[in-house]
Amino acid sequence: MNIDLNIFPVAWYAVTWSKELGNKPIKVRLLGKDYVLFRDEKGIVRCLNAYCPHRGADLSLGFCHGGQLQCAYHGWRFEGDGTCVSIPAHPNKPVPSMAHARSYPVREAASLIWLYPQQVENEETLPPLGLFKDLYDDQYTFTPTMVTWQAHVTRVVESILDMTHLHFVHRKTIGRYMKPTLDQFSFTVEGNNWDIHVDGAHIEFIFPQHMILRRPWGGKRSFINYYCFTPIDENQSKVFCVTGRNFARHIPGMNKFFMSYNLKIFNEDKPIVESQNPISIPEMMQLEVHVDSDGPQVRYRQRWYQFLQNKLEPRIDVHEQRLNILRS
Ligand code: FES
Ligand SMILES: [Fe+2]
Repeated sequence: MNIDLNIFPVAWYAVTWSKELGNKPIKVRLLGKDYVLFRDEKGIVRCLNAYCPHRGADLSLGFCHGGQLQCAYHGWRFEGDGTCVSIPAHPNKPVPSMAHARSYPVREAASLIWLYPQQVENEETLPPLGLFKDLYDDQYTFTPTMVTWQAHVTRVVESILDMTHLHFVHRKTIGRYMKPTLDQFSFTVEGNNWDIHVDGAHIEFIFPQHMILRRPWGGKRSFINYYCFTPIDENQSKVFCVTGRNFARHIPGMNKFFMSYNLKIFNEDKPIVESQNPISIPEMMQLEVHVDSDGPQVRYRQRWYQFLQNKLEPRIDVHEQRLNILRS
């Protein structure tokens, strides 16, 4: 089988933090395509293709007026569903149907904005966001961290499912007290759900894009780390990480501490993951060597190969996205 680096599963992906989107539109990139996000008059997030159907100007340079998005170039205005409602140069002529912009499903939850990168006829046919309930649990104080790596998302996901790198890569942080061997390591995989227990931590990964780690912190204290793995294109990925703690919730400086500690951990991984050759998982299982402790990553790899072969699973080819800037 030839692995196609350009093909990715369609799913709900985190694209930015809620707090980044105020009353100005912003541009985000997902799977090789740019989108513009803005808030309508109720503050609800809307998402359109980033480039204006008129002359391709970047709509994130435009303005929000009365819940509509106005292009900065000639002032055409768009509703959240992409309907073009005004062409100022021709106020008395009907708007041509080609003037409407493409709109995409978008949601706001757990301090993040989520994008589903495919148009749908009927929003009811969309899969649910499927976030872990911990992200809505008010016993936790949450802190955000986001990193961008020059790496294919398959290598990024595997790095976070990987347990035996902790002792080596994170020897100055979370791996300081870990041995090269794994204690109490067990995992099961059913369909898209991974369930991993290791050294007192419990990890759930849901294919293709997100994962939670839960760790007791002594007594009733507990700590969670949530990750969404967002492919920007075939060479770049983002990880949106939300850390929750039910202790030291109101101690000044604690949020900053958690953010910078997380960043430090990610920066320990970054040069390793960016160094991997080939950039994505290789095209066949046999092209790299697997041992028992790689079990969760081996199952991920098998699931990715299965996805590539099963053409019925929704997918996006990032090269096609680039060829169809206005049409897709
Ligand atoms: S390019 Fe957007 S209105 Fe002309
Ligand atoms: Fe790591």
